[in-house]
Amino acid sequence: MSNQDSLEKRRQLTGGNLSLGYRNPLKIVRGEMQYLFDETGRRYLDAYNNVPHVGHCHPEVVEAACEQMRTLNTNTRYLSDHFNEYAEALLATMPAALDTCFFLNSASEANELALRLSRTATGNRDTIVAESAYHGHTTTLIDLSPYKHDGPGGTGAPDWVHTVPNADTYRGVFRGGDAARRYAQAAGDQIAHIQESGKGLAAFMAETYPSVGGQIIPPDGYLSEVYQYVRQAGGICIADEVQTCYGRIGNPFYAFEQQGVVPDIVVLGKPIGNGHPVAAVVTRGDLADSFDNGMEFFSTFGGSTLSCVIGKKVLEVTQREGLQQHAATVGQKLLEGFKQLKLKHPLIGDVRGAGLFLGIELVVDRDSLEPAASEASEISNALKDAGILIGIDGPHHNVLKIRPPMPFDDDNADELLSALDQVLEGLQS
Ligand SMILES: Cc1ncc(COP(=O)(O)O)c(C=O)c1O
Repeated sequence: MSNQDSLEKRRQLTGGNLSLGYRNPLKIVRGEMQYLFDETGRRYLDAYNNVPHVGHCHPEVVEAACEQMRTLNTNTRYLSDHFNEYAEALLATMPAALDTCFFLNSASEANELALRLSRTATGNRDTIVAESAYHGHTTTLIDLSPYKHDGPGGTGAPDWVHTVPNADTYRGVFRGGDAARRYAQAAGDQIAHIQESGKGLAAFMAETYPSVGGQIIPPDGYLSEVYQYVRQAGGICIADEVQTCYGRIGNPFYAFEQQGVVPDIVVLGKPIGNGHPVAAVVTRGDLADSFDNGMEFFSTFGGSTLSCVIGKKVLEVTQREGLQQHAATVGQKLLEGFKQLKLKHPLIGDVRGAGLFLGIELVVDRDSLEPAASEASEISNALKDAGILIGIDGPHHNVLKIRPPMPFDDDNADELLSALDQVLEGLQS
């Protein structure tokens, strides 16, 4: 079936807001590590998709999954060594205080559970999130995702959701040396506002490094100051590490460690299943105890035998293949390369990131910071034509997002840098 016919059929079969990438959408039929292949056999370098963390269709993950599907796939109502082994391996990557975990199918479900835990523990409902954050697609999480409820079709935040600015030192409201303190103070002010209105704080929920917000790296010390305000108010600190976990940022294994904090709840999803729906909530034993209030917790597929086998294998491969260090090395090379391109191309306003979590912010003018959104779209489409897939994000749709499967290597970095250089040259001519 031609791509045009596939597109028309899809339009008949599903809702129009199930979005597609690219002006001329791709039909991808096969994946292998950091590469995707279309129906003609053309190879694309995947510099965008973080979900296949250890590589598209990594043979060891595929093998473990097939073997388990032949043997058993059932739910958590039976004892399972796979469940215990996966939980143990996952908890071993966390600070000692985070000693309890729950498994779910998606990060949306995991964020929902994190919220329930925070509400049970505090008896409160009011929650603070960052502007342009995205935490999931359920009704409650749309309420907690300004990226959605303040965007097209959105109806704004309900009265129990409070927003703080992204700790963005390039475009945000505070850009100077005291930005960390001032952004943290904004959270302190929101907490005071909640308390003055006679309510209490349930949670502060934030991506440690905001991704949909534009691949932002908050200034050092930001989160530890925010957490102090939250804890003084009796609130729960939830770190959404869906985009930044498992060595993605090079060093350390989780982004919250880089900010020098220990969250009360860590939410994991997407990459931890390498494409299979696995998500997790990791928390302290006392929070899990307060949640154990008589109401049963059960998720039909969460923590299934198959999910645990796959989750365990993805973590094992991540560690054994040294992907964290690899991301640090290749990411550094890319970051330096992007900085060189910035010297040459005035469209590049800012280059930022850590490990293989990188962003290039495009501006029409480096003084006014007017966002170059249409240029970002041109570049992404031109790179696709050159056989490289990247993303676009940020509230102004002007940040090129580079966040590839972790096996993305040195040669791939050269290929991306050279193609981006050429595309930028082409735009200027
Ligand atoms: C930071 C973050 N949290 C949560 C989610 C929700 O994940 P899922 O679509 O797996 O429910 C996403 C998805 O993009 C995300 O980026």
